[in-house]
Amino acid sequence: MITPVLPASPESIRRAAAIIRGGGLVAFPTETVYGLGANATDAEAVARIFAAKDRPLTDPVIVHIAEAADLDGVARDLPPAAHTLTAAFMPGALTLILRRAPRIPAVVAAGGDTVAVRIPSHPVAQALIRESGVPIAAPSANTFSRPSATTAAHVLEDLDGRIDLILDGNAATIGVESTILDLTVAPPTILRPGGIPVEAIRALLPNVQVATRYLGVETAAAAPGQMLRHYAPRAALTLYTGADDDATLARMRADIAAAQAAGRRVGILVSDDAAHLTAALTADLGTALEVVSARLFAALRDLDAQGVDLIFVRWTRREGLGAAIWDRLVRASNGRVIVVQP
Ligand code: TXA
Ligand code: MG
Repeated sequence: MITPVLPASPESIRRAAAIIRGGGLVAFPTETVYGLGANATDAEAVARIFAAKDRPLTDPVIVHIAEAADLDGVARDLPPAAHTLTAAFMPGALTLILRRAPRIPAVVAAGGDTVAVRIPSHPVAQALIRESGVPIAAPSANTFSRPSATTAAHVLEDLDGRIDLILDGNAATIGVESTILDLTVAPPTILRPGGIPVEAIRALLPNVQVATRYLGVETAAAAPGQMLRHYAPRAALTLYTGADDDATLARMRADIAAAQAAGRRVGILVSDDAAHLTAALTADLGTALEVVSARLFAALRDLDAQGVDLIFVRWTRREGLGAAIWDRLVRASNGRVIVVQP
């Protein structure tokens, strides 16, 4: 272990803030997932984030600020909806796409003229931003395409030796990333379902739209291998869905049996149907959506650590946090989505 992991304390947060101001990289907890932070106003520091994660420069990063009063420092020409949404959901698991202020360098936005802005509620993230005195650019603190990190140990697993410090603030409570809402387009569009449910945003912004790639199972199933590989465990994950639970489970059981007969090591992500799926390594996701989202990424890493070749999972719920869980599973499956007809 080369990168120090320090329990978040006033002293370690001061040390982390000094690293940020000096152009270095610090991983820190947020309520969604761990972030990998750098001074958002320092183009060279931000470029180091991309190198540490092996992330392509074409994928822009989110700028984290402590409070709504700081919005003007990172974005310009705020539409009225920005104020409504900020008041309702920020601090919290919502990221807004706004017009980029000149103070934020282009590398943050992959050269575009917009910027993603988030106000995390986690006390350690809040303290780090305030102590640093600058906005903090931070993607999720995982290697590009791997499941996001929800604990300091997972950050270390991916980024040891590549970053300057990890602040340990225990496991992230939400466990999936923020909801991303683009306010620079008409109608406003959700680019990524996340910790704040689409339904809650729609209650305030009735014309909000969800980017088509998230609309139907058909879209996912029609594009195997063509999606951006993301959140992916090393093992190949297959996602099952269908209106009829019995039919879907029967198909899954048959596929699991066939894989095992062929000598593959099988892992199953189990939500509420443990009794129906046996004779393989399982990771328990729990049943309530809040519990599933909190455990999801850790469960993927867990099965990988146990050396499985294949992961099977069934998911049907699409309401509330269910939409974000569905999205992460689709992307982790790299398009291997099996829609079982009743
Ligand atoms: O919960 C979260 O959002 C976590 C924590 C650390 O804040 N961050 C996170 O960052 O998930 P990241 O980089 O893993 O995902 C951010 C997503 C990327 O898919 C990126 O393409 C998109 O936000 N994004 C960033 N800036 C954008 C922009 N200006 N326009 C459109 N999409 C943007
Ligand atoms: Mg990420």
